[in-house]
Amino acid sequence: MRSLYIAGHTGLVGSAMVRHLSDRAGCRVITAASSQLDLRDSRAVQAFLERERPEGVMLAAGLVGGISANMRRPAEFLYDNLMIEANVIHASWKTGVQRLLNFGSGCVYPKDCPQPMRPEHLMAGKMEPTSEPYALAKLAGMRLCDAYNRQYGTRFVNAIPCTVYGPGDNFDLQEGHVLSALLRRVHEAKEAGKTTVTLWGTGNPRREFIYADDLAEACELLLDRYADAGPVNIGAGEICSIGQLAERCAEVVGYCGRIEWDRSRPDGAPEKRLDSSEIRSLGWMPKVGLKEGLQRTYRWFQKQRTDSGVLGSVR
Ligand SMILES: NC(=O)c1ccc[n+]([C@@H]2O[C@H](COP(=O)([O-])OP(=O)(O)OC[C@H]3O[C@@H](n4cnc5c(N)ncnc54)[C@H](OP(=O)(O)O)[C@@H]3O)[C@@H](O)[C@H]2O)c1
Repeated sequence: MRSLYIAGHTGLVGSAMVRHLSDRAGCRVITAASSQLDLRDSRAVQAFLERERPEGVMLAAGLVGGISANMRRPAEFLYDNLMIEANVIHASWKTGVQRLLNFGSGCVYPKDCPQPMRPEHLMAGKMEPTSEPYALAKLAGMRLCDAYNRQYGTRFVNAIPCTVYGPGDNFDLQEGHVLSALLRRVHEAKEAGKTTVTLWGTGNPRREFIYADDLAEACELLLDRYADAGPVNIGAGEICSIGQLAERCAEVVGYCGRIEWDRSRPDGAPEKRLDSSEIRSLGWMPKVGLKEGLQRTYRWFQKQRTDSGVLGSVR
């Protein structure tokens, strides 16, 4: 691909793609900071794509967060994501973008989805209520890509990654995802010399976690070589309970205290395991296992803190 606009290039997924493509000669990577281009503004998005005329678009911008953020800000999760998707997808069609990669998320599948989750399970049951605003917007974006493909013959692809983590993750305790929140809580318990750390929920839900750089490799493959509309699940293949994840975080951080669970807090869906046979059949395999990925992410987190010198400044 000669030119790719990465919407959301400062985020976890977008920054991994920027890193991944940094040594690709002949591919112009186009970016725009959200302070300069608010993707909720349809005119600005249209003008930007008319000016830049990228061959491909990776739509990695959106309002993303864990259960807590979704529950506190449902209007923003629905509105921002709908607007961003509608504007970027529509303007991409209008300006003749050849390939667009859009992201769904594991939570677009029903709460009680058969496991592993496959694209035919979409809309076959009720969504998990704690992430419904975000999931509804993500599903609408996926359906929008399908509609443009059907009506206008575009080649827009939907990818559904499992939970992503890595350098650039959101470590804000109110806004972030489960893995970054666990890593930070355990880190802070160690720093404060606490003998117990209390974490949200029961620890029982089972999840898959993909390292952001592995996801970037899968995204490049889909943009370059995938001929169908998808959706294509992208899972790590390794599933673990939140309890097991917390233990691995404690290992990586070097925390020896006890882990307790606040069962009054919501768990989210009991299990989210993706059937990733489609992306595997294209020859993609994740390279970074959970332990190594956690170590790398923790090193990044520590460096951010050291560099900024301010507790809590890692978003
Ligand atoms: N993280 C996951 O576990 C996960 C799992 C499945 C799917 N996904 C999907 O992957 C995509 C990227 O997620 P992520 O985790 O990388 O998110 P992220 O780290 O929160 O990054 C979001 C990006 O979107 C940008 N953005 C947000 N609102 C914007 C606006 N109004 N105008 C312009 N840019 C805006 C942000 O820019 P600023 O930093 O300047 O605000 C940032 O670059 C999303 O579509 C998400 O649904 C993520």
